[in-house]
Amino acid sequence: MLFTSNDIAALDSRYRAALVNSLSGFKPANLVGTANHSGASNLAIISSVVHLGSHPPLLALIIRPSPVERHTLENILDTGCYTINHVSDQIIEAAHQTAARYPREQSEFAATGLGEYWIDGFAAPFVAEATIRMGMELREHKQLEINGTHFLIGEIVLAEVPGHCLGDDGAVDICAAGTVALSGLDSYYGTRRLRRMAYAKPDLPPTAIS
Ligand SMILES: Cc1cc2nc3c(=O)[nH]c(=O)nc-3n(C[C@H](O)[C@H](O)[C@H](O)COP(=O)(O)O)c2cc1C
Repeated sequence: MLFTSNDIAALDSRYRAALVNSLSGFKPANLVGTANHSGASNLAIISSVVHLGSHPPLLALIIRPSPVERHTLENILDTGCYTINHVSDQIIEAAHQTAARYPREQSEFAATGLGEYWIDGFAAPFVAEATIRMGMELREHKQLEINGTHFLIGEIVLAEVPGHCLGDDGAVDICAAGTVALSGLDSYYGTRRLRRMAYAKPDLPPTAIS
């Protein structure tokens, strides 16, 4: 099946969203935890987290523009901090349910049964059940001209990784942590590492290291 840009523009909107959301390949499944100035918590599943750089350690995420309230965006812009928590196979149902449009005063933690985990001095809640968690400070916010989406760049200021998932060289075995992958807006996948490859150099053939 070949879709031209005219075909894509003419698609039913739900079909188009399902199709285009699947085309970028597997995406990370993360829960973004925030709180407002009074400490009221909020949690939302977000698949648009991308790595921007390691030094400083930066991750970006994208929040869609919308006529509806965007609690995560409001809280991040308000407090300047948030958490990113990997979704593992144990919490798929609860994590997915955070996408429901709960009213502002209803915390998705309470609504889904996920536990809040606070670290002293950090003003956003982590997910107690998550195996890998990061505390983020907002460094840059841009609303993109092309479609009005909000591009938020944050610095990792806290990172919590279980010892058994952390390799001697710093690489994290996210498969051992039970982290799942996402396709589109509703399909969750388990993962299996097929191979690990040595640093690629022009004068060396591709070499598997484990
Ligand atoms: C699998 C999945 C991935 C999602 N990824 C994003 C995303 O990357 N950006 C976004 O703005 N919304 C995303 N959403 C939608 C939000 O989770 C949803 O709008 C949520 O209600 C936002 O909650 P809030 O108003 O409390 O911030 C996703 C939803 C699902 C089910």
